[in-house]
Amino acid sequence: MIIKQRMRGFISLTAHPKGCERNVLNQIEYIKSKGEIEGPKNVLVIGASTGFGLSSRIASAFSSNAATIGVFFEKEPQEGKTATPGWYNTAAFHKAAHAAGLYAKSINGDAFSNEVKVKTIELIKADLGKIDLIIYSLASPVRTHPETGITHRSVLKPIGNQYSNKTVDFHTGIISEVSIEPSVDGDIENTVAVMGGEDWNMWIDALQAADVLAENVVTVAYSYIGPAVTEPVYRKGTIGKAKDDLEKTAFDITEKLKSINGKGYVSVNKALVTQASSAIPIIPLYITVLYKIMKSKGIHEGCIEQIQRLYYDRLYTTSGSVPTDSAGRIRIDDWEMREDVQQEILNLWKQVDTDTLHNIGDLKGYTKDFKNLFGFGFKEVDYHEDVNEMVEIDGLI
Ligand code: NAI
Repeated sequence: MIIKQRMRGFISLTAHPKGCERNVLNQIEYIKSKGEIEGPKNVLVIGASTGFGLSSRIASAFSSNAATIGVFFEKEPQEGKTATPGWYNTAAFHKAAHAAGLYAKSINGDAFSNEVKVKTIELIKADLGKIDLIIYSLASPVRTHPETGITHRSVLKPIGNQYSNKTVDFHTGIISEVSIEPSVDGDIENTVAVMGGEDWNMWIDALQAADVLAENVVTVAYSYIGPAVTEPVYRKGTIGKAKDDLEKTAFDITEKLKSINGKGYVSVNKALVTQASSAIPIIPLYITVLYKIMKSKGIHEGCIEQIQRLYYDRLYTTSGSVPTDSAGRIRIDDWEMREDVQQEILNLWKQVDTDTLHNIGDLKGYTKDFKNLFGFGFKEVDYHEDVNEMVEIDGLI
């Protein structure tokens, strides 16, 4: 079929297999251009099909020839209906990994469930024995708790007071004022249940109990802090409470992995265009302004550049030490949070409106990245070509 991008709100209803493959191959080429490191050997990535998780899987495989198992939740294609991008990304990743002689298998299912944890452990036991790195990179709006059966929904709300600020419709470039009502009873608990550390902890408990964690195992989950302009809706909002909980969980994990000298870390990453971040009000406008500033300073990064720095300059340094901030967190948002960058954000934020956005912000860069997430907007891909949407993932369990 000939696949065009069809949008509903901030979601693309279609994805392009060839474009998704291009996206994966570009990331692989980037990692290979950085040379090999003494990195992980057997890796589990939970949330492996898009965004930071996909880049982590690519970095693991192509920086140090790691065997990788990926867990994700994606829709497979049907005749005349494309799969979600993570499906095509994974098909392309498996193909490239297998061509390079690397082990790659994946499980498509609900990572919050006991069944998927059991299935993953069986696969590790059968094929890898023990794993030495677990990346936890889930971004989900909902979690059904495996013990209580309760379905929790996360919300992106300020706490205490209504919050108003500018936001952009990135399809039209129109900036408007958005007001977000404060959280109500249960919102914080539900958001923490979905995006906090409990499920990460449960994964580590299950893996440890099954004795599939290697000596010196490392596990990393991703967090975000961000600037003053997004604070009420992000770090001091309901999602921020979940991130506080996730960050606390890293210490609990390090404690429970003491006997095998294991470590739990949170890495604070940069704001980037992903399916998850485009759904948060205010953040897309912040990202368009941030992109412009960071590109002009030559310090812009996408997911793969971020994860490359995480692996090469933080987790697998030649000295063996992992640099962290005073709260024990790895910081690869260091360039985003640089004082000169944030000072410019403050100045430009006051000036940005629909008329000035084209000068002040990098809306083009934002929309290009957004299209790329779904496999559109790559100059190497012929979008008039008839392509097969029924792509299979070789190595899907
Ligand atoms: P994403 O939406 O690109 O990826 C989410 C992944 O989780 C996908 O692989 C998806 O299949 C998987 N997933 C979702 N629900 C699942 C379920 N029930 N079972 C199995 N897999 C499931 O998200 P992104 O942006 O890469 O986020 C990953 C982490 O990075 C999140 O914790 C996010 O808060 C954090 N982060 C994101 C930043 C951003 O600007 N995008 C900045 C800093 C941190």
